[in-house]
Amino acid sequence: MSGASRIYEKRLGDLDGLYRDSEAFAAEVSQRGADELVYVVHEQKYDSSPGALIIGTSTLLPGAVSTEFAMTRGHLHAVADRAELYHCLSGHGVMLLDTVDGDSLAVELTPGKAVNVPGHWVHRSVNVGEEPFVTLFCYSADAGQDYSLIERAGGMRTLIVKDGEGWSQIPNPDHRGYETAAN
Ligand SMILES: [Fe+2]
Repeated sequence: MSGASRIYEKRLGDLDGLYRDSEAFAAEVSQRGADELVYVVHEQKYDSSPGALIIGTSTLLPGAVSTEFAMTRGHLHAVADRAELYHCLSGHGVMLLDTVDGDSLAVELTPGKAVNVPGHWVHRSVNVGEEPFVTLFCYSADAGQDYSLIERAGGMRTLIVKDGEGWSQIPNPDHRGYETAAN
């Protein structure tokens, strides 16, 4: 289908506050430069109606800040009940998932694996490998994104950290709970 296409990029300097260790982050910025690319999203939208789909690819480069692996900012859809499919094309990553009321999941993704993220789940990609982590995504064109919910909560409930040659998940001590529509 033809339609508007969009590309957006996030560079290291755009991600202040994303990682817990602010000193390690500042050191990474001074070493790698604020302009170093962290992730790029290509997406295509033919229409903004509720039944239309946005499809695209997300490419998250490998790296870490202190023990935390490279990650996207993450979001809840502005229309919160909108679901999203992520299908791993290459690399090795984790889709980190939280509900606002207490459930959390870390879904490991390798090429050919997919995760069907239901509505009402906060989601973020994490690259736990040494190559770019590339996913194909697909979601409703009217979903939108709320990026500030995670920031107001002190981060997601779980951190994905280096563990020897692999990765593990640990509770985020800064997480103070998500705001809900009721509060
Ligand atoms: Fe999304």
